[in-house]
Amino acid sequence: MLLKHERSVTMENLQTSYLGLMLRNPLIAGSCGLTNSISDIKELALRGVGAVVIKSLFEEQINVETENVIISEEGEVKTFTRAPDKLFGKRIYDYDEAYSYIFDFAKRNTLEKYLDFLKEAKRSVDIPVIASINCVSNQNWHAFAKKIQDTKVDGLELNIYILPSDWRRSGEDNERIYFDIIREVKNYVDMPLSVKIGYYFSSLAQSVQKLSESGIKGLVLFNRPYNTDFNIDKIGLSHGSVFSSNEEYTHTLRWISILSGHVKCDLSASTGVHDYKAFIKQLLAGATTVQIASALYKKGFDVIPEILKGTVEWMRKHEFESIDSFRGKLSQSNLENPAAIERVQFMKLYSGIE
Ligand SMILES: Cc1cc2nc3c(=O)[nH]c(=O)nc-3n(C[C@H](O)[C@H](O)[C@H](O)COP(=O)(O)O)c2cc1C
Repeated sequence: MLLKHERSVTMENLQTSYLGLMLRNPLIAGSCGLTNSISDIKELALRGVGAVVIKSLFEEQINVETENVIISEEGEVKTFTRAPDKLFGKRIYDYDEAYSYIFDFAKRNTLEKYLDFLKEAKRSVDIPVIASINCVSNQNWHAFAKKIQDTKVDGLELNIYILPSDWRRSGEDNERIYFDIIREVKNYVDMPLSVKIGYYFSSLAQSVQKLSESGIKGLVLFNRPYNTDFNIDKIGLSHGSVFSSNEEYTHTLRWISILSGHVKCDLSASTGVHDYKAFIKQLLAGATTVQIASALYKKGFDVIPEILKGTVEWMRKHEFESIDSFRGKLSQSNLENPAAIERVQFMKLYSGIE
């Protein structure tokens, strides 16, 4: 039999606000192949997610189509049947193969199709729908954000993924791109913006803090990078798993707990959350919301009610009546120097093992 306070905690108590939007709970279906069809989006909503981030459109898709329009406006109407030799008079990619792949990809996935899809997604569900653009540069694609805003979706997540591997660019050069992109996009839209980042920053804490002050409403930590691997039988390139494992949540957990309380926007935890325990941990660290993708593939959509039910039961047990009443309880926001604490913990743990 449930005690009185236990009975009173239900799914209603999971309400939270993210990017200024009201969500029925903090569990978000992250951008992935399962947010790329209306039937899946409806099912995700039915199973209980608080919001959905649509599969990203790539900046390269926007650029290629923009190029096409510019040529048309000059009166030189051209229909490309294969990748043209150059873009704006110069190559944007060093390798022919990479460039023609991107061109063909862009043609298959037209922008109009993406906008129509957003409108339909928005019509189909009554939870917030967040569009997503995957971008790497400050090239000329920002005006497209306005078209996304016109579809009346609730927000836009910019997935900015810059692998700092270019020898000619300093950390500062790379980090400036994030701010340039945000500024440009903000010139076109006033819808809620969030930015999803990786962890390759020379000073992650300071960069995240500055990003949180750039006018965005949320930061998604973190992008899970494409992992290169080798095939030693074929002596060639291969890649790591596309899906995360359930042990990968700790990296995000560390950073959410270090950063929460020091930033001026919401934090959404992403990577490695596969069950209600990892979900609750991210909230205890201070996350405003938590995104899942791999768990949806590995466990199916049943993982959604499992996580939500597990959270309600845990809240009953610990007598928390709202997400706000325990969010950030284990944040390190009061620590002057989390690195010093980690070092002591590291020494204690590792020196005890022989
Ligand atoms: C098949 C697949 C497709 C994805 N596509 C996108 C995408 O288009 N845009 C994006 O921002 N993230 C994309 N992601 C990354 C996820 O949103 C998420 O950040 C990452 O998988 C880590 O979270 P997880 O551990 O819950 O999977 C994709 C992930 C998967 C597995």
